[in-house]
Amino acid sequence: MRLSKKNLLAVLGLVTVPLLLLSAALFLLVRGQEDSEALGMILIGLSLMELLLGSLALLRWQQEHLSRPFKKLQDAAGEIRDGNLDHVLEPEEEDEFNRLFDSFEEMRLRLKNSAEEQLRTEQDGKILLANISHDLKTPITAIKGYVEGLRDGVASTPEKQARYLSTIYSKAEEMEKLVDQLYFYSLVETGRIPYHFTRIPAHAYFSDCRWELKEELDAQDMVTRYENRVPEDVMIAVDPEQLHRVVSNVVSNAVKYRDRNKEKNMIAFRICVEGKTIVTEIEDNGVGIAPEDLPHVFERFYRADASRSAATGGNGIGLSIVQKIMEDHGGRAVLTSEFGKGSCMRLELPVYEENANEPDTDRGR
Ligand SMILES: Nc1ncnc2c1ncn2[C@@H]1O[C@H](COP(=O)(O)OP(=O)(O)O)[C@@H](O)[C@H]1O
Ligand SMILES: [Mg+2]
Repeated sequence: MRLSKKNLLAVLGLVTVPLLLLSAALFLLVRGQEDSEALGMILIGLSLMELLLGSLALLRWQQEHLSRPFKKLQDAAGEIRDGNLDHVLEPEEEDEFNRLFDSFEEMRLRLKNSAEEQLRTEQDGKILLANISHDLKTPITAIKGYVEGLRDGVASTPEKQARYLSTIYSKAEEMEKLVDQLYFYSLVETGRIPYHFTRIPAHAYFSDCRWELKEELDAQDMVTRYENRVPEDVMIAVDPEQLHRVVSNVVSNAVKYRDRNKEKNMIAFRICVEGKTIVTEIEDNGVGIAPEDLPHVFERFYRADASRSAATGGNGIGLSIVQKIMEDHGGRAVLTSEFGKGSCMRLELPVYEENANEPDTDRGR
């Protein structure tokens, strides 16, 4: 334990004063005169008393000095035990204790962070559950209505019955998508996305994607433009199913957030190679995103005000999934947007090069 200046002076005093008194006593005793002998004896007594009292004071000081930090530590541990993770352990004067205190503080902060993270995850889960339950209600109510219509004979003609059945089918598909999204989200949360990476030609892959999405886009009256400038032999190492999920999430946003006041709703796909990167741009002329919302749209559960109030349905996890899958592919997703004009999603994927790193099939697990 290092002594402070004040304490050092006290200890010095404790040692030197009796020493001086003893020396004086010895001097008087050596002189051998009767009255100086008596004074010498008194001085010896005084020095012994000073030594005794001083030692007692020193012992008490030492006890206090040692017990105070331990008491503080004990109190701080008690606060943590009682669930208070905000109690700060103030540093001590002594360096030796400070190392211990620093470690204790670090432990407290880590505990606090992980408790907060857990709380966030729990709250996110609750929000998601509430959103999905809310979104499931709409198709369920519709299905019930159409089934009742069929049962009660409201749909009297075969054409009407066929229309009812087809609506029921599309509502069931809507529900399936929601449940699938919920399931996939739980896989993302627990880091268990089942990736199966393969090497495929980029040109052909995006062409297939476009044809697969064509029907949905046509049905929504979206004008589609498509430009694929990737040479046919350029390869990518991807999980086709998960990458399809990315494209389909982005496309469904373009459809969902289209601007109904515009004469034509447009979606354009542009795929090209920039150096060692395959760039896929998916641009729409939809409602766009306000500048204050744009930095947050990749966050879980974030929905811009406009989308929340427009009752478009959705839970704000689509883009967080897009970003996660792109990162797991060694790429990234960047969204630019102009409020009222439209948005453009840029998906970047590394070109697969022979002899370069093999795709890591365990990524994201
Ligand atoms: N193409 C787009 N046009 C306008 N807004 C968009 C577009 N894509 C995403 N957004 C905004 O970003 C938010 C988050 O998107 P997303 O994570 O897919 O959630 P969700 O579609 O379920 O609301 C949306 O609520 C919307 O406000
Ligand atoms: Mg979405």
